[in-house]
Amino acid sequence: MSVYETAVRPLLFRLDAERAHNLALRASELSGRSSLARRAAGRAFTYRDPRLETSLAGIPLANPLGLAAGFDKNARAVGMLGSLGFGHLEVGSVSADASDGNPKPRLFRIEQDEGIVVAYGVPNDGASVVRERLTGPRRVPIGVNLVKTNDPARPAAGPEVYEDYAASFVALQDRAEYIAINLSCPNSAADRDFFDELGRIDGLLVRLAACDPRVPLILKLKPTRDAGVLREIVAIADNHPFVSGFAINLPSGKPPDLNLTVSRDSLARMPGAVGGPPVEELVNAILGTLKPIVGDRYALIAAGGVTSAEAAYRKLRLGATTVQLYTALVYHGPGLVKEILAGLAALLERDGFERVADAVG
Ligand SMILES: Cc1cc2nc3c(=O)[nH]c(=O)nc-3n(C[C@H](O)[C@H](O)[C@H](O)COP(=O)(O)O)c2cc1C
Repeated sequence: MSVYETAVRPLLFRLDAERAHNLALRASELSGRSSLARRAAGRAFTYRDPRLETSLAGIPLANPLGLAAGFDKNARAVGMLGSLGFGHLEVGSVSADASDGNPKPRLFRIEQDEGIVVAYGVPNDGASVVRERLTGPRRVPIGVNLVKTNDPARPAAGPEVYEDYAASFVALQDRAEYIAINLSCPNSAADRDFFDELGRIDGLLVRLAACDPRVPLILKLKPTRDAGVLREIVAIADNHPFVSGFAINLPSGKPPDLNLTVSRDSLARMPGAVGGPPVEELVNAILGTLKPIVGDRYALIAAGGVTSAEAAYRKLRLGATTVQLYTALVYHGPGLVKEILAGLAALLERDGFERVADAVG
């Protein structure tokens, strides 16, 4: 057990989940202002191995493990988070305008399944504030995840949605190594199904193409196992060469194919989408369907239940170019990053791969 698991987690877990998260983020933000603290964290948490070096849509990465969107929505703590050993960070989701998100409580732990239930509804400070925070040198590449502004008074209905994404895209693309487009926040009830009409994905990409895209674009999709739908989405992307890859979001609500042991009664008291090990199989099944469709034409970023080197490796073998985690950081703390990377290097060695990219797919 790490110091985090024995000493820090018990204290944090006494607090409401959102308060605990805000506290951890604030501590990261403040400590990240000290170059001494950043260097000390870098020494403690970094694991280097040339076999783990890889690239995502042409962006060189020291390793294939990133921090998933949602942990640092507003890019407050990238100084410290960039010193924890991750190969990249994804901040956001950020929207054109600031948003308060959904009413509280909106974040819950399912301790027995090491899961998190999230119903935030993409609260964030808005594109212009986040833009100002993303200045200065950075230790690792940063992707910025964009979403439509969550405003129940202005639910997604038509082309104004494209304008909303275009505004945040224009504000943030020159502050990011890549842009991820969150096409379906599972917790924006009024917006999450907008892109089910797949022609609208084309509509959005046509609009973004007019914004002079200069960095790779990743589409973070609503999860579906339907190969026909995935094929259609990939065919749409094929018409827009600035689309470089895909990621898979959490499913909304509590679909029956989540691996949960907690009672349905307890779940009913926790509105929102489930992250962590309960979604691993579902995401992996989608990844296994998507990879043969995209072949080597697109990068794939895979998050969902990465809690160990073995879990990260499973996603890489299924075709993920890089993997990300969020929930496992809450349960196991920052030491997990190094543990996963060392374990990945050992798995590459075991299977005779010289570089992590050789193990992909
Ligand atoms: C509390 C929480 C907030 C999240 N917020 C976002 C978000 O704002 N945008 C997004 O694209 N994904 C968001 N996600 C999804 C994660 O980026 C990731 O895809 C998902 O949690 C699966 O990874 P995990 O099992 O390691 O948590 C969030 C996840 C959690 C748990």
